[in-house]
Amino acid sequence: MPPEPRKHAIVYYSRDGHTHRLARQLADTLEADLFRIVTSRYSSNVLGYLHAGFDSLTGWLPSISPIPDLSGYASVSLGAPIWTSYPGTPLRTYLATRPKLPDIVGMFATSGGNSAQDKAFSIACGTMDRPFVATFSVPNSLDQAAADMRVTDYCNALVTAVGTDLST
Ligand SMILES: Cc1cc2nc3c(=O)[nH]c(=O)nc-3n(C[C@H](O)[C@H](O)[C@H](O)COP(=O)(O)O)c2cc1C
Repeated sequence: MPPEPRKHAIVYYSRDGHTHRLARQLADTLEADLFRIVTSRYSSNVLGYLHAGFDSLTGWLPSISPIPDLSGYASVSLGAPIWTSYPGTPLRTYLATRPKLPDIVGMFATSGGNSAQDKAFSIACGTMDRPFVATFSVPNSLDQAAADMRVTDYCNALVTAVGTDLST
């Protein structure tokens, strides 16, 4: 028998690897398919950093690699680093394409500082026609045990939402 199709998808951008590692952890927990957004604009050198900050503040959105249609999944999780209090611009580009997504969408972010990430979540959510079922953020300085708890709580919320969504 062919394996059951996976229920959960994660689409994310990561420049420096933090969001990538978190996305991998989520994918292991949810048994999700991972889709990484790629752009050539933000190299790992100082120029890439400056571009990232400038674009984030001005709202200039870079071109990104294509992401397949994810509307057939039961849930999609969106992941990005926080840049100048906004979601990283590559995720903003993805959302600006108005992708078809399932009813159950959540979001996660990594950040350098401990400040609340509500602004980034609400900016991302504002591009969609539904609220996120769950969100969480992990500052880079957070210890692993605390980060693990956030991942567990988020996954539980997502799985519960999928279980109660009659359309899946
Ligand atoms: C251009 C730029 C702007 C940033 N702005 C913020 C910010 O406003 N608040 C914050 O907490 N961290 C900020 N950071 C730190 C990143 O959010 C943090 O390092 C994140 O984990 C990077 O994710 P990545 O490794 O997946 O690229 C910024 C980083 C960059 C490159």
